[in-house]
Amino acid sequence: MGMIRSMTGWPGPSGFGSATTAEQVTAGIDASDLTVVITGGASGIGLETSRVLALRGAHVIIATRNMEAANEAKQSILKSNENAKIDVIQLDLSSLKSVKAFADNFIALNLPLNILINNAGIMFCPYQLSQDGIEMQFATNHLGHFYLTNLLLDKMKDTASSTGIEGRIINLSSVAHIHTYEEGVKFDSINDKNSYSDKRAYGQSKLANILHANELSRRLKEEGVNITVNSVHPGFIMTNLMKHSLNLMRILRMFSYILWKNVPQGAATTCYIAMHPNLKGVSGKYYADCNEWPASDFTKDPKLAKKLWDFSNHLLDSVIRRS
Ligand SMILES: NC(=O)c1ccc[n+]([C@@H]2O[C@H](COP(=O)([O-])OP(=O)(O)OC[C@H]3O[C@@H](n4cnc5c(N)ncnc54)[C@H](OP(=O)(O)O)[C@@H]3O)[C@@H](O)[C@H]2O)c1
Repeated sequence: MGMIRSMTGWPGPSGFGSATTAEQVTAGIDASDLTVVITGGASGIGLETSRVLALRGAHVIIATRNMEAANEAKQSILKSNENAKIDVIQLDLSSLKSVKAFADNFIALNLPLNILINNAGIMFCPYQLSQDGIEMQFATNHLGHFYLTNLLLDKMKDTASSTGIEGRIINLSSVAHIHTYEEGVKFDSINDKNSYSDKRAYGQSKLANILHANELSRRLKEEGVNITVNSVHPGFIMTNLMKHSLNLMRILRMFSYILWKNVPQGAATTCYIAMHPNLKGVSGKYYADCNEWPASDFTKDPKLAKKLWDFSNHLLDSVIRRS
């Protein structure tokens, strides 16, 4: 049923579907009392998400690796909406030092923080290690976001309790989380070059995005904190993400064009989860086409989620101790 809905654009139970755009899903929502941090908000799905959240009145902070591109993105948003509140702060997720500097710079602004969108990502890159010596897709897509979320969480908790407004964290995952290594996450050999597969390493990092969201959601529920955490597959959208596998993706799209979305449609599920009143109190779920979707069996394993949580903290400690 889900696949037929994706192909036809028929709305699901939420009233929205694969053809819904970010503007449509947020129509009539006033976000003028919300502050959003979005990673990778200067291109692709992130840029459209930033534009539409700003259109609804939110103050959007774009966390970006490339300041020049982000300032251009900011100007393009301001061109269509001169009232947009957009700020740009440098962030390289593949460097824990940079993640800490970003968090310090953001906290120094003394702004509230209602919504964190862990959107940035890389896909199918050849084997390489990050500056901190960690396999690059795991370091960028998961560990950088894991650390960023830890560092911003107290700010989000303070904002949620002082304003009474529910905080929301959204992790951009992918249906590719299904195509991971046999054991789900290679805890014992995360950096192993011999067994590295660019596709499975991407799938592993996207599985980690969901497990991170699920475990954080569980912890926040236990603490009674008014913050939800969900994950998203945005759909298939031709963006810069495909740069390491452009030919493969072009061929794939020829055979599955009916499943592909444009960028405004690709940003809809993120915007739905970030802003829509339907999602009040909903946490620890996986969404696609603006509706809850089934995720892989690995994502339903709370022991695996806890193991990834401990493993990620251990990695952070060892990198921070070394630096
Ligand atoms: N497009 C799809 O079909 C698709 C499908 C499933 C899931 N997703 C997920 O959706 C998210 C957005 O992807 P997209 O399609 O919009 O791709 P995109 O246009 O390539 O955007 C990704 C963004 O992440 C940023 N980024 C990459 N490495 C970074 C780093 N080390 N530090 C900080 N920022 C970094 C990029 O910045 P630079 O410009 O500096 O590289 C870029 O702004 C990703 O998490 C992706 O996995 C996309």
